[in-house]
Amino acid sequence: MIERCHRDTRPRSRPRLHAALAVAAVGLLAAAGATVLPGAASAGTTLGASAAERGRYFGAAVAANKLSDNTYVTILNREFNSVTPENEMKIDATEPQQGQFTFANADRIVSHARSRGMSVRGHTLAWHSQQPGWMQNMSGSALRQAMLNHVTQVATHFRGQVVAWDVVNEAFADGSSGARRDSNLQRTGNDWIEAAFRAARAADPGAKLCYNDYNTDDWSHAKTQAVYAMVRDFKQRGVPIDCVGLQSHFNSGSPYPGNYRTTLSSFAALGVDVQITELDIAGASPTTYRNVVNDCLAVARCTGITVWGIRDSDSWRASDTPLLFDNAGNRKPAYDAVLAALNNGTPPPTTPPPTTGPTTPPPGGGSCTATLRDGTRWGDRFNSEVTVSGATNWTVVVAVTPPQKVSATWNGTPSWDSSGNVMTMRSNGSGNVFGFTTMANGNWSRPQVYSCTAS
Ligand code: G3I
Repeated sequence: MIERCHRDTRPRSRPRLHAALAVAAVGLLAAAGATVLPGAASAGTTLGASAAERGRYFGAAVAANKLSDNTYVTILNREFNSVTPENEMKIDATEPQQGQFTFANADRIVSHARSRGMSVRGHTLAWHSQQPGWMQNMSGSALRQAMLNHVTQVATHFRGQVVAWDVVNEAFADGSSGARRDSNLQRTGNDWIEAAFRAARAADPGAKLCYNDYNTDDWSHAKTQAVYAMVRDFKQRGVPIDCVGLQSHFNSGSPYPGNYRTTLSSFAALGVDVQITELDIAGASPTTYRNVVNDCLAVARCTGITVWGIRDSDSWRASDTPLLFDNAGNRKPAYDAVLAALNNGTPPPTTPPPTTGPTTPPPGGGSCTATLRDGTRWGDRFNSEVTVSGATNWTVVVAVTPPQKVSATWNGTPSWDSSGNVMTMRSNGSGNVFGFTTMANGNWSRPQVYSCTAS
């Protein structure tokens, strides 16, 4: 794996100066052609860049009405490479009247994210809460049909734009029963969850389909075991499920459990990805944040972490000050702990594929040269890096092969054609090496560089 320098324009405190020197040192090594050995520290200077070097994303819940807040957007664009709309994709937001869909706010977030190379998690298609009035008043087969139609319409609208959907949210009861939560959806029949997953798969076959819940972090809890049993059953019976979301809202009543890593690895062992989907920690203990990151990094199929908001003031539990940035947008000690954990983490224990030769642009492909090298490879995805020579300001066109999908990028500004398979990457001042992660979706062929153009 080749390490990269990331641009960082913020004022530096002394620890940051040390970090900068470390970054510079690794950059020099990279420039000299040295390879950083597996297990070595990484040099990302933002959460997203550092997570990407670990083959993961680092995301935030985003509210559409804050996209005009300059401080908020500056942090979002600098730090995160994944976005979850906090409320804008929920049932009451997207289908306020039955059969009438409104996507404007969700579309704004999706467009903001994708135009900057961030991936999008969809949240959520079927939930007992945040139902519009018309749905709350329904029951039986009419409700089942309305729910399935909602799943189909919303997943179809965002087809190809959402890498993972929380198909069903919070369907299990708290406490020791291990039972399903009573709700109007549950009363349509116990198979409502798998029916929702099948409808989502039919509507967007390329999206990862997740079951998402809270208080499922402690491996010993009945609710965790009940969700685990459902996922195991789904995998055994071929119900389409790809991932489990652990919300991970931690506070004194629901603390970070010492067996959290066991929970992550146990779900992963069922053959699903695990994602930490709504992380916040009351008081924002740096130690607890570090533990969560280290636990995710220790589980190969823990593919990313999303914090539920950016600044404390953006949190649904603002008075708990549970996030990584204070109300003014300053980094908190928890931020430093997360970034250090991401940078110190051991890269996943895999070796790059043997095909590491350069790919040259096809004839007539442009006025600079772009060379693609294979990066780290995991069970479901792989990194690629492209080095540009002959231009400082450049545009490189790269194509992946369907059903492959680019899930993360770094060190450039990407845009996609309508198929979603052809990525145009433009320099953004971060240097002449950019990278991207491709979800293989069963196809491991190498992305192709089409052209390199100096501008
Ligand atoms: O936007 C309206 C505003 O116009 C109105 O004046 C105000 C008055 O109540 O309400 C505003 O809407 C609120 C919305 O958040 C935006 O702030 C809703 O009332 C409020 O219910 C809603 O709360 C959201 C909650 O889910 C319920 O949907 C939180 O923002 C959101 O953070 C929270 O997220 C959930 C996840 O979806 C699932 N897991 C738990 C997590 C935390 O509760």
